[in-house]
Formats: sequence, structure tokens, C-alpha cells
Amino acid sequence: MNTSCTDIARALLDWYDAHARVLPWRALPGAPRSDDAAWPYRVWLSEVMLQQTTVAAVIPYFERFTSRWPSVEALAAAEDGDVMAAWAGLGYYARARNLLACAREVVARGGEFPDSEAGLRALPGLGDYTAAAVAAIAFGRRALVVDANVERVVARLYTIDEPLPAARKAIRTVADAITPDERSGDFAQAIMDLGAQVCTTRAPKCLLCPLSDVCIARQQGEPERFPVKAPKKAKPVRRGRAYWIERDEAVFLMRRPGRGMLGGMRALPDDGWNARGDGTGEAPLPGDWQASGLVQHAFTHFALEMQVLVWSGKVCCDPGGFNGEWWPLARIGEAGLPTLFDKAARLVMAQREDMA
Ligand code: ADE
Ligand code: SF4
Repeated sequence: MNTSCTDIARALLDWYDAHARVLPWRALPGAPRSDDAAWPYRVWLSEVMLQQTTVAAVIPYFERFTSRWPSVEALAAAEDGDVMAAWAGLGYYARARNLLACAREVVARGGEFPDSEAGLRALPGLGDYTAAAVAAIAFGRRALVVDANVERVVARLYTIDEPLPAARKAIRTVADAITPDERSGDFAQAIMDLGAQVCTTRAPKCLLCPLSDVCIARQQGEPERFPVKAPKKAKPVRRGRAYWIERDEAVFLMRRPGRGMLGGMRALPDDGWNARGDGTGEAPLPGDWQASGLVQHAFTHFALEMQVLVWSGKVCCDPGGFNGEWWPLARIGEAGLPTLFDKAARLVMAQREDMA
């Protein structure tokens, strides 16, 4: 592997110079590091958004966040609820809570992001991946930036046939051997782009690949076999209900408490379903409920089938036990509902229109 390691880095960087995707958080390949004071902020924000989320989904969110909160100071000063609402639809909402905690920590320390992997790792919400990515991309540090794209490319290059997640250690060892000392941020993004555009999960385009000469999976003819994955556990299916309560052209929306699932997000009241169990079926108000339909949603560790029920009572008080507000139906699109509840709202709103 030794002689080809630098060759791999060189081939990838040359390919990146010619084919890098133009993305709003990126400098041009090989460009000197930006002296824009908000550059580490933009790199950090993009990397937090890109965990578990595709580039295409992230771009509009990144644009909206950076025009509304152009610096870490601006984000640190934002209202929690505004940031949670702006994050709605991106999923994994703990990322948004950690994002705010991190911005505030950086500002409390004087407004500069730490410029080393270890310093970054100590900030709230920055795991190994994000700390390495920001150190490499924003500060030009050599760091091992290993995401799912990198795992796939590396596992194929060297036909690592140990299944994931156990193979992570071997993958990191190889990634370390091929990561160059210079331009390690461009190198990381080059493998990500290669993984997203050429070395794709299905039908990799080996004919277009700058590494095809050295790739063992290609030589053996079965690149799709890698990375090998341990069989997935079937997700349990949970059943629950969400409740739509209207008064004067407004719907009752609660603020979900704490740091749990969807914590801090606006939502419809529900019957207490969660990752571990079904809801109780108990409605928040006595009276007549009409079934509106079923919403299905896949969370990381379970699938949810959620019945949406509409209250048909006439005089309405606030439903007990929920911290919430009456939200005008005309502005329902601005409530910042997470995808699951957005689906429920669309279902009910579509039925209202059919009846009108
Ligand atoms: N996925 C995670 N970080 C990325 C980046 N900087 N460019 C492209 N895809 C990514
Ligand atoms: Fe992936 Fe094919 Fe390139 Fe190997 S040759 S890294 S399998 S695209």
C-alpha cells in the first residue's frame, strides 16, 4: 500500500481540482484559506447539518441560516424557538439544540472557534466526525474525516470484508495511511464528492473514477459488495395518536419539552407514544373525535403509525397538561413543525379544503 498512498491522495486531489462540487459552504479547491471571519462558522454549520442529511437537502437550510444568522455571534443571540423552527424538516433535532449550545459556548469564550481537533471536540455537540471535519476544512489541519462516503470508498479500494460497524477501526487505519499532510480538508471533501457522485452505493461509475487503477474491488469485479454490513435489526412499529384541536381558525400547537425526541419543537398534542411503546389512546379533551387518517414516519430506531384525530367539539378550552399556543391556520406553514407533524397538518388541511 505504501507507494500507492501518496498516489491515491494526488489522484484524488487532481480529480477534485477538476470536479469538485460547487457548494455554498466551500472555498474553491486549492484556494488559500478564506480570511472571512465567519468561515469557520460556515464550515461548522454545514458539517453539523450534513450529518445524517444529504447535500441537496442541506443547501436551502444552509442558505436560510447564514442569511438570517451570518455569524456565530448572531446565532448565539437567536431565540431558541426561532432556531428550532428554522431547523424543522432537517430531522435529528438534538443537532439544533446542540448547535445553539455550541454557538453560545464559542461566543462566551470570545467568539473564535478552537483551531485544533481536540479543542473542537470539547465543544457541545461536536463528535469525532465534526471535530475532524472542521479542523481539516476550516483550519487546514491534518485529520481523519471518516463519514459513510469515506467508509464506502475505502472499503472498496482495499476490499475490507469485515462487516460494519466492526470494520470502522480497519477503515480508519487505511484512511490514515492515505490522508495527505497538506490539503487534508480538500482531500476529505474529495472522497466525499467521489462517494456521492462516482463511487455510489449502487452502480458505481468505475469508468470515471480516478482510483480505478488501484481499486481492488473494481479488479475483483464486485464493488457493490463493499462495505459489508451486519444484518439490520427490524425496526419496531409503534402506534400512537396526534390530536388536532381548532378554535377560531387556529390550531392548538404544543412545545415539546426537554431534550427528548423532537424536544423543543412545536407539535400537535399526542397520546404519549415514544421509541419504547405505543401511545395510551387517551385524548386531551373529552368529546367527539373524527379520524382524519394515518401518518407513517420512520425514526432512527422505530417506525411510527400515527392516527390523526380531529376534535369536533364546539366550545373549546385549552387542552390540559400541554404547554402550547393557538396557531393561526393561515400561517401553519411557518410553525416550524417537524416532518411527522407537518404531514399530519397537511392531511387535515387538505381535508378542510375538500369540505370547503
Ligand atoms: N458531507 C459532509 N460534509 C461534506 C462536505 N463538506 N462536502 C460534501 N459533502 C459532505
Ligand atoms: Fe469506487 Fe469503482 Fe472507484 Fe473503486 S474504482 S473507488 S469501486 S468508483
